[in-house]
Amino acid sequence: MLNCAIMDKSGKLIQLLAVILLIVRHIGASDEVKVFTVATDDTHGLDRFLRSARVYGIDVEVLAKGKEWTGGDMKYAGGGQKINILKDELSKLMKSDDNKDRIILFTDSYDIMFLSTLEDILKKFKSFKDTRVLFSAEQFCWPDSKLAGHYPKTEVANPYLNSGAFIGYLPELLEILNHKPIKDQDDDQLYYTKIYLDKELRHNLKISLDHDSKIFQNLYGALSDVQLRSNTTEEWPYIENVVTKERPLIVHGNGPSKLTLNHLGNYLAKSWSMKEGCALCNEKKIELKENELPNVMMAVFIEQATPFMEEFLQQLNDIDYPKSKIHLVLRNNVEYHETEVDDFFQAHSKNYATAKRIKPDDFISESEARNIAKDRCVNSVCDYLFSVDSVSRVKPDTLRYLVSSGYDVIAPMLVRPGQAWSNFWGAINSAGFYARSADYMDIVYQAVRGVWNVPFITNCYLMKMSLFRNTEAKSVTYSSEDVDADMAFCSNLRQLGIFMHVSNEMDFGHLVNPENYDVSRTNPDVYSLFDNKLEWEARYLHENYSVNFEEGRKHLMPCPDVYWFPLMSKRFCKEWIEVMEAYGKWSDGSNNDKRLEGGYEAVPTRDIHMTQVGLDRQWLHILKEYVRPLQEMVFTGYYHNPPVSIMNFVVRYRPDEQPSLRPHHDSSTYTINLALNTPNVDYEGGGCRFIRYNCSVQNTKRGWLLMHPGRLTHYHEGLKVTKGTRYIMISFVDP
Ligand SMILES: *[C@@H]1O[C@H](CO)[C@@H](O)[C@H](O)[C@H]1NC(C)=O
Ligand SMILES: *[C@@H]1O[C@H](CO)[C@@H](O)[C@H](O)[C@H]1NC(C)=O
Ligand SMILES: *[C@@H]1O[C@H](CO)[C@@H](O)[C@H](O)[C@H]1NC(C)=O
Repeated sequence: MLNCAIMDKSGKLIQLLAVILLIVRHIGASDEVKVFTVATDDTHGLDRFLRSARVYGIDVEVLAKGKEWTGGDMKYAGGGQKINILKDELSKLMKSDDNKDRIILFTDSYDIMFLSTLEDILKKFKSFKDTRVLFSAEQFCWPDSKLAGHYPKTEVANPYLNSGAFIGYLPELLEILNHKPIKDQDDDQLYYTKIYLDKELRHNLKISLDHDSKIFQNLYGALSDVQLRSNTTEEWPYIENVVTKERPLIVHGNGPSKLTLNHLGNYLAKSWSMKEGCALCNEKKIELKENELPNVMMAVFIEQATPFMEEFLQQLNDIDYPKSKIHLVLRNNVEYHETEVDDFFQAHSKNYATAKRIKPDDFISESEARNIAKDRCVNSVCDYLFSVDSVSRVKPDTLRYLVSSGYDVIAPMLVRPGQAWSNFWGAINSAGFYARSADYMDIVYQAVRGVWNVPFITNCYLMKMSLFRNTEAKSVTYSSEDVDADMAFCSNLRQLGIFMHVSNEMDFGHLVNPENYDVSRTNPDVYSLFDNKLEWEARYLHENYSVNFEEGRKHLMPCPDVYWFPLMSKRFCKEWIEVMEAYGKWSDGSNNDKRLEGGYEAVPTRDIHMTQVGLDRQWLHILKEYVRPLQEMVFTGYYHNPPVSIMNFVVRYRPDEQPSLRPHHDSSTYTINLALNTPNVDYEGGGCRFIRYNCSVQNTKRGWLLMHPGRLTHYHEGLKVTKGTRYIMISFVDP
């Protein structure tokens, strides 16, 4: 008993000691090291940097916040201002004797992330022999490549000094900073490089470079050296330098590698993990208050003839957001769609806070139209611009999700079903065009879920307008002489360091494919089965088609071995007839038929073949995808995939033309007969009689299919139509 108590107490004691030690150690590092950065502007890069610091408990002092940047355009040389700002700050520090042993960690901020704690960084720094100041190192000698020859050793992974991050003792650092005056617009990296290349200074001040990326990883030129480990047994993703076998503690997207850092940043600093998913997304989410919903400008762009426009317009109307909070800009540049767009606008525009239209005959280019919408939003009360192109199909809750995501620029991921084509690019090549990122397919196929910083988004996105109300971003446009509107715009956002995101946290919808959409046809949507299956099925398949396959379903059999199924929608039947009548070249009903191989038809009808109206591929697909499964269910044991059918045609019966068809067998294994209109409404009489059974089906139903064996038992005739016109769609399957 006594023993136990002591053990227990000593156990607790040890725990307590451990905690104290931890605290001491913690105080130790942040006491010993002061972390500085210079950031005049509040950018997305700075947000990311500060968050990474927070994640690892690092206190950063941001110098020159809100000050004017006079250090030049950082795409070229410049940055001397950083030296002058740091010099002032460190001189102040040096005034106190307590700071003589102080270690200073200085980093850039817009393109830097911390990947570990200050303790780890300090430990690594102290492991460098004979070093009082350690600069990060990279593969390019910049900005003056001629200096490469002056470096003491170059047979290392990263030979050259990079001034984006360094760590060192205060006295030596101050000596470096005070070595010579520098103008704000002069280059800081060149300044430090010259000091390093001065052998005496290098030795006296004990300056080293982190050639192996023990602490600092510069990404430019090192992309194949640096591997992201995102799917490991470890809790959080990390990067590894596979050449030096080090795990860097600070990563720098120097020079043109900023987009690579954006990509890595999706995972690093505990932003995302296989197990936790998108931790960063959860941090950013904001709660929407129903009575304070932000004002959104919904800018709709119809730039090209688009399949299933009616459904698109309906979907706009269905977006779950108060219309009193939506300012509508409806831009249509396609004459073909103008009538339905007009109908939509007349019916719904009054429900929106404001509504504006841009019509085809306004002769406004795409980029101009997009500029107009954006500027209208920037210059008004609107908080967000929600840009929607007609190819995007989004679920009603998408807008709310985007607004509450907390991201300034975010697209819902939309993909063409079954393809890798989406509304974002994972990476970009040096010419500014599409490149595939390592994780592109994982994102598209949702093997990973989250919100991803990407270099290009299009078709549907939300942007926070306050971004564009400051001076620099105010002039951002969609206009460009060389590339299309979205490419120009995204390129401008990248230049400004504005991060774009795509979310695949949820399923938001998809893209329709307008590529083969031919508006010279009658009812072009009905042709769009291959390119836009989802829309096609929703509009054209019978609403109860799937009920056919319900377990225990008793199939209708109006005559022996004649089955009866709902197959196509009323809309399908209507559009199908319209296609035939628009084509209009019905056969003459004689035995001579040039459309047939033998040129002879024994039992002729007045008809149009699918080959004549360019619908044969579509119809054969309907047979394979939707009819064959029905056949296999009722005529069990017969499999023939795909079904073969040479004769596929619409028959027209009417009293003054051909009202009936004499008894005959079909040259088919089975025949299908789809009613395209309605008895006693569109016509009188008509129907199909199976002679052997003295059984007729006369109450046919539009969109319903009769299926029966073709030969021997099912000798049949077409009953006389006495009034109106009857249309049926016939196939002789497996002749
Ligand atoms: C992660 O790793 C596991 C096990 O190796 C593998 O099954 C899974 O597909 C990987 N996931 C991704 C998104 O790569
Ligand atoms: C589908 O089935 C339901 C339930 O039997 C019925 O009410 C509905 O009218 C059917 N739809 C069509 C288009 O026939
Ligand atoms: C066929 O059916 C009709 C009506 O159902 C009936 O009037 C007629 O007598 C039948 N014919 C034969 C040959 O059974």
